[in-house]
This record gives sequence, C-alpha cells and structure tokens, in this order.
Amino acid sequence: MDISGQVAVVTGSARGIGKAIALELAKAGAKIVISDLNVDAGKETVEEIKAGGSEALWVEADVSKNDQAAHLIESAHQTYGHLDILVNNAGITRDNLLMRMSEEEWDSVIAVNLKGTFNCIRAATKIFMKQRFGRIINIASVVGQMGNAGQANYASSKAGVIGLTKSVAKEFASRNVLVNAIAPGFIETAMTEKLPEKARETLLKLIPLARLGKPEDVAKVVLFLCSERSAYITGQVINVDGGMVM
Ligand code: NAI
Repeated sequence: MDISGQVAVVTGSARGIGKAIALELAKAGAKIVISDLNVDAGKETVEEIKAGGSEALWVEADVSKNDQAAHLIESAHQTYGHLDILVNNAGITRDNLLMRMSEEEWDSVIAVNLKGTFNCIRAATKIFMKQRFGRIINIASVVGQMGNAGQANYASSKAGVIGLTKSVAKEFASRNVLVNAIAPGFIETAMTEKLPEKARETLLKLIPLARLGKPEDVAKVVLFLCSERSAYITGQVINVDGGMVM
C-alpha cells in the first residue's frame, strides 16, 4: 500500500498507538507530522523516522486548544504545500465511578478526546475541501460502543467521536474527503499497562482471538484507510479488537 509523497498529521504520536501509526505511514512513503505534548518522546519519534529514510516534522500542540490545533494543521500545510491525511489519535483517560467523578475528570477527557478531534478536523477540512482530497481517521474505542463502568467520561468521548466521524463523512463526501473511525479493543500501551493482572485475565476471556492487541494491529488498518484500496469506504467504524464486539 503505497502512499508516497502524501503528508500525514498524526496527533499524540510521541508513543503508543500514534507512534506505531506514524512509523507505518512513513514506511509506506508518507511525510509525517509528529505532534504531541510530550516533546522529548515526540522528537525521538521524528529522529527514528528520519533514521529510517523518511521525512518527518515535529510540531508541539495540545489538541484540546483550538489555536494550537489550528497551528499544527497550518504548520504541516505550509511546510509541505499540501496535507492529505489527518489521524486523530491523541487521547487520555481519567477513570472514576460516576458518583465520584469530578467535573475536571469529565471536562479534561471530553476536551482532549472529543473537542481535540473536532479542532483538528475543522482546521484540516478547509484544506481538504480546496484540494478535493483528504483522509481523516479518528481513533475511537470499543468502550464508545459498549460502555464501561468507571469510564463514563471516556466512553462518552469515544461515542462522540463515532457520531462526529459519521456526520463529517456525510458533510464532506462530495468533496472526496473520506472520514472513518477505528475502534480498538484492548491494545498493549502505556495507557493500559496499569491494569491489574486479574483484570487482564478477565479481559482476555472476552477476546475471541485470545490475545491483547498490539499498536501495529491498529496501525495497519490506518494505512489501509489512507490507501487507494479503501477509496469506497466512508463513515465507517472498523473494530480492531480481536472480535470483542460483534
Ligand atoms: P498513550 O497514552 O500511550 O498515548 C497517547 C498520546 O497522546 C501520548 O503521547 C500523549 O502525550 C498524547 N496526548 C495526550 N493528551 C494530548 C493532547 N491534549 N494533545 C496532544 N497529545 C496528547 O495511549 P495509546 O494507548 O497509544 O492510545 C492512543 C489512542 O488510542 C487514544 O485515543 C486512546 O483513547 C485510543 N485507544 C487505546 C486503546 C488501548 O487499549 N491502548 C484502546 C482503544 C482506544
């Protein structure tokens, strides 16, 4: 799946799933804009991509802030002269049972996961519309489909991302801008490593493929959604969850 010369912005790409997506798209020939709050890890990812012979740019941005999201998209566009792919991957959790959930825990998760996705999409679609080409891939979660005790904020943000994906897909289809979401299941990253062993074992029983996912499992599907092979797919949620939701 060759996407040579295309420019891709991947948010939250300093580590975890976002980093795996950045490396996968770079291997397929894209120029990658790495963006995150984590400056040191973000710059390391840029160096790793360059060492592999591909082009990469670092832009620090907090996607929950509209001006920073707009600056990120503008920097990518100005540097390379075009923008083809936006992967909204930046995300956080602040888990708590609803009765104990603070307003700050609710607001911060919605601000990054849902509003951050909106901020980046709004800035990028101006460019995509003029180009009459663009691919947007939003990283949602199975939790947005199933709900999860202790994650009312996170589940709401990810369900929101799914609604946002479908709405934007309808608004921009006539301009050849394809918008899809991926709903990962349980993927081994820093976000999930805190989970106690017992909870892990219980989770494994819910996964028909009987293993946790790897960041690369998600990255490969992102590449497919960026490639010419998915030219007739928009407004979809693709589960990458080992069969958890079916
Ligand atoms: P992670 O915590 O390893 O990486 C998230 C990255 O986003 C970090 O580098 C972090 O610095 C960055 N980030 C956080 N807030 C930001 C902000 N305001 N602006 C810019 N960057 C920000 O997490 P992981 O596991 O790689 O998750 C990536 C995405 O996948 C998230 O959207 C997450 O909700 C989603 N996801 C993860 C699953 C998992 O099992 N790990 C399952 C389903 C979805």
